[in-house]
Amino acid sequence: MKFVRTKDGSFTAFSKKYKEHYHSLSGAYEEAFEKHVNALGIEDGMKILDFCFGLGYNSIIATKKHKKLQIVGLENDIEIIKAIRELEVPKEIEKEFTAFRNLAEKMEITDGNNNTIKLIIGDALVSLDSLPRDYFDRVFFDPFSPGKQPEMWSKEIFRKVYAVMKQGAKLSTYSCAESIRQNMTDVGFKVKDGPAVGRKSPSTIVIKP
Ligand SMILES: C[S@@+](CC[C@H](N)C(=O)[O-])C[C@H]1O[C@@H](n2cnc3c(N)ncnc32)[C@H](O)[C@@H]1O
Repeated sequence: MKFVRTKDGSFTAFSKKYKEHYHSLSGAYEEAFEKHVNALGIEDGMKILDFCFGLGYNSIIATKKHKKLQIVGLENDIEIIKAIRELEVPKEIEKEFTAFRNLAEKMEITDGNNNTIKLIIGDALVSLDSLPRDYFDRVFFDPFSPGKQPEMWSKEIFRKVYAVMKQGAKLSTYSCAESIRQNMTDVGFKVKDGPAVGRKSPSTIVIKP
């Protein structure tokens, strides 16, 4: 796997299939922390769905300073999970990555603070159907962009994601496209601006009311 250094010094990957980087080039670490983990607020014991796990930044950063998180990651490409083994990360999150570097072999790992990450490898659109209803407190929603992967941002997907979230649960995503927000609103989510990080436009936070 060829990694690309982003402006905050952390590394991301580039998808040859979608011709898109896995993170904003302004900073992979910054994006995961500011647009997802910090924007949602994580509490010990939460159940988290990582929709499009990739290199695992969102979930692995969420485990920092937390315990008993129960994280389910959906991903269809085992090669990107294998790449977590060699990913060089900022020292602030080195300890957390060390705990989860062997996910590709184990598929489920629990760290020393009882945070568990369990991966389901396959098409996330199908995997969603196997998850319990009204279950997750937080969702990191992180597919490639709507322009490259429109099927991941449809009303049908948001309806399925809505179904697996608890009442009051929150979801974060980097896109603020009007058509995407409309799809989210149409299935029942309340939509708010998330933080603008590395660009002028905000990200998006939605709540299941
Ligand atoms: C933008 S990247 C995710 C970045 C990731 N959150 C990280 O921290 O590296 C999108 C990810 O979605 C995965 N993906 C694309 N289509 C998928 C599908 N239908 N089902 C599951 N995963 C998919 C890709 O393999 C890629 O790892």
